[in-house]
Amino acid sequence: MNQDEINSLNEQTDIVSLVSKYVKLEKQGKNYKGLCPFHHEKTPSFIVSTEKNMFNCFGCHKAGGPLKFIQEIENVDYQEAVKLLCDFNGVKYVGTKIKVDPNLKYYQIMETSKDFYNRFLLDDKSSINALEYLKSRGITEEIIKDFEIGLSPNSYDVLYKVLTDMKYLELDMADCGLVDSGDNGKYHDLFVNRIMFPIKDEKNNTLGFSARIYVKDPNQPKYINSRDTKIFRKNQVLFNINNAKPEIIRKNRIIIHEGQMDIIASYKSGLKEAVCTLGTAIGENQIKIISKLTKNVIICYDGDKAGIDSSKKAINLFKRFGFNIHLVLLPNGMDPDEFVMRYGEDKYLEYFESHIIDEVDYLYNVAILNNNLDDKNVLNKVKLDVFSLIASLGSKIEEEKYLKRFSEYLNSSLDAVVEDYNKSRNININIEIKPQIKKLNKVKKYNSECELRLIYYAIKSRDEALRIDNEIRNDLIAFSQESLQLWVSLVNTYYEEYLIFDEEKFVNMISEEAFNQYKLLNDVLRKSLNQDYNEEDLRACINKIKDIREDIKNRNLHENNLNSNDETIKSRNVDEMFRNRRNKEKRKFEEEK
Ligand code: UTP
Ligand code: MN
Repeated sequence: MNQDEINSLNEQTDIVSLVSKYVKLEKQGKNYKGLCPFHHEKTPSFIVSTEKNMFNCFGCHKAGGPLKFIQEIENVDYQEAVKLLCDFNGVKYVGTKIKVDPNLKYYQIMETSKDFYNRFLLDDKSSINALEYLKSRGITEEIIKDFEIGLSPNSYDVLYKVLTDMKYLELDMADCGLVDSGDNGKYHDLFVNRIMFPIKDEKNNTLGFSARIYVKDPNQPKYINSRDTKIFRKNQVLFNINNAKPEIIRKNRIIIHEGQMDIIASYKSGLKEAVCTLGTAIGENQIKIISKLTKNVIICYDGDKAGIDSSKKAINLFKRFGFNIHLVLLPNGMDPDEFVMRYGEDKYLEYFESHIIDEVDYLYNVAILNNNLDDKNVLNKVKLDVFSLIASLGSKIEEEKYLKRFSEYLNSSLDAVVEDYNKSRNININIEIKPQIKKLNKVKKYNSECELRLIYYAIKSRDEALRIDNEIRNDLIAFSQESLQLWVSLVNTYYEEYLIFDEEKFVNMISEEAFNQYKLLNDVLRKSLNQDYNEEDLRACINKIKDIREDIKNRNLHENNLNSNDETIKSRNVDEMFRNRRNKEKRKFEEEK
């Protein structure tokens, strides 16, 4: 180790933690105070300053930084003191650059607490009821060891005392979300009489806990999770990622469940690649962690309404990250834990592996789930759901497959179902525009700003949206495909169901393509367009769209030699003319800007 490295190690050492190992310190303003270990005294004159990272005794005038402190208190030479300081900081000195992890003390406190809770559950006599409870839920001693499950004592401050005896600082314990100081200034444990599930990272560090109640008490929440700390962020952790990681890599897939008990049920059944979040919807940060391990996800949430709703949201999010998505829908609204308790591990494994379905199958299955088709309203809702799903497939073969399935399910003829299906579709878009749009795709390298502006106005209110749609319905061909999708999702799907625009609801129901367009709109337009409603601008946009539409029609007629039956635009010439037209328009917009 060179001198620079030693200096940096010295500077980065938390002197309060270090001194606390030898001296009982009390906080006093910004500093800490205690009895000097270097001379005999009855009133404290030994000060530790966090700001300066130094100690100083006003009695015997010894002073210095962490290294000096170790040297003095251990009565060792400089080299030996450096070594001890390395040990204290968990640093191996191999001659490379040294970086002390400022969170090391938190990791140590969490590790100690996890071990304490675990031993308390396994060894303490008073844990018998908790063990009974776990047994009743199918959690064996082996599982307790694999997951290092623990029990927090039914007492005021046992953990606090354990950690204090090990010279950890109150403030650091509090920063870990393990203890809190009450009105009397005394510290007490935050987890009391609960089954403790440690939440770990990929490297097996304990970051936090999820704590389940096991005695009947309707006034307390079922689970209490660690609050966010320097090392624990609820939206960045995945329960069981430590155990699952090698299995995720080996099988090249990950399973997502809703709760810890479900993870354990899968684990026992041989599905060790399962993880869950802590009662919150899975988020981007968690998906980023998964992304590094695999791109194949199997979502298996509870089979109830809430589980299905969360599945749909998860599908959309995973899609955005380019995942290959499959799902397992459990019967009778069960969760994996309930399934295993009722039918056993083998049946569960068998069911799981043979019911892995893709997104469309899943959405189809949930659309027709538990429905009383004798009720006309219910039937209509089912039809609406199934038909819009089928319409989104974008493949005639797939369309037909599901229409057939649906006719069998309804017990009616395929013809009748197809007829209803066609009626339910927006004929304008399906028949007139769709075939041409495919061609247009190739020439549209950018999105015209006027279409984005129109969408912007349409988002502002349902009435406005319907009014604009009424005016430009026959001109939608002039939209880019992405904008068209966004428009149809907004006007024909979203505002069909809702009166007021709600971003979260909307974003969750639209395709990826439409979502990207929505983001573009947000990024590009909403910032620059902060004037409220502007009738003049709206008019101009509508007219521009109509112009483009007129252009397309003319070219189309010309090119097809008045063969109006042929809907497609064939020649490269048209593509070119169209591109020129758009480029001109684009330039004009840029000039205006
Ligand atoms: P569930 O309510 O679905 O519970 O919560 P569960 O998994 O069936 O739990 P058991 O089987 O009764 O033990 C799913 C997950 O949501 C979080 C927990 O992580 C739980 O595992 N949760 C639940 C909370 O954070 N707080 C709660 O009060 C409830
Ligand atoms: Mn459960």
